[in-house]
Amino acid sequence: MDILGIDIGGSGIKGALVNVDNGEMITERLRIPTPQPASPKAVIKVVKQLVDHFEYSGPLGVGIPSIVINGVVLSAANIDDRWINYPGREGIAQATGCPVTLMNDADVAGFAEMRFGAGRGEDGVVMIFTLGTGIGSCMFVNGQIVPNLELGHIYLPRKKHDAEFSASDRARKEHKLDWKEWAKRLNSYFAYIEALFSPELLVIGGGVSKKYEKFAPYLRTRARVVPAQLRNEAGIIGAAAAAVSKEAVSQ
Ligand code: BGC
Repeated sequence: MDILGIDIGGSGIKGALVNVDNGEMITERLRIPTPQPASPKAVIKVVKQLVDHFEYSGPLGVGIPSIVINGVVLSAANIDDRWINYPGREGIAQATGCPVTLMNDADVAGFAEMRFGAGRGEDGVVMIFTLGTGIGSCMFVNGQIVPNLELGHIYLPRKKHDAEFSASDRARKEHKLDWKEWAKRLNSYFAYIEALFSPELLVIGGGVSKKYEKFAPYLRTRARVVPAQLRNEAGIIGAAAAAVSKEAVSQ
């Protein structure tokens, strides 16, 4: 079955048709820059453009960098604050005519990794982190997602700011850290995560997972760590797969 998956990000809104039986994208992905300000109206217009481009009708999966409960958006990171309390699922469904599944972007990326990528067949507590502009986080327990974890926003002991301020890929670039320095910050972050959640497997996703071998030698964790396999496409693939899955939550 071919389903359209859309990944709403702070700088780009990306979509592609995905074969949800094997997790492969069957079209080129189309990326349209995120309108600024990224208000619901402006973003939904772009989502509609993507649907029209792919001449698509059918279940539509969408990931967004927000907490989503029952289709309502409850937070807004790197998108306009007007999303907060906005009924996103309904708004997108009305504009496109498609039944919509709307989920947090890290949750859909994790969903894709569990089904088709690095987490396939993994039981127990698996945590997936997308390291990019922010830190997206997601947890699966025996294959079942625990949705809407916001672990990029926890404060590390003795620090006065969100973890994503110091350990995201944006922080690496902005603070001009070399791989070893950045890995040291990741180690503090993951040590805290491990103390709180005791995961057995950590999957590292986001754009930086392409450069995994540069920082992997410096990582020190109790849990096994592996790079995501679907890279930046996990958001699109997971959104599409979630749109037709009973296991997806927060639809
Ligand atoms: C947001 C999360 C999102 C993550 C990755 C964080 O700042 O709060 O909802 O999953 O960034 O985009």
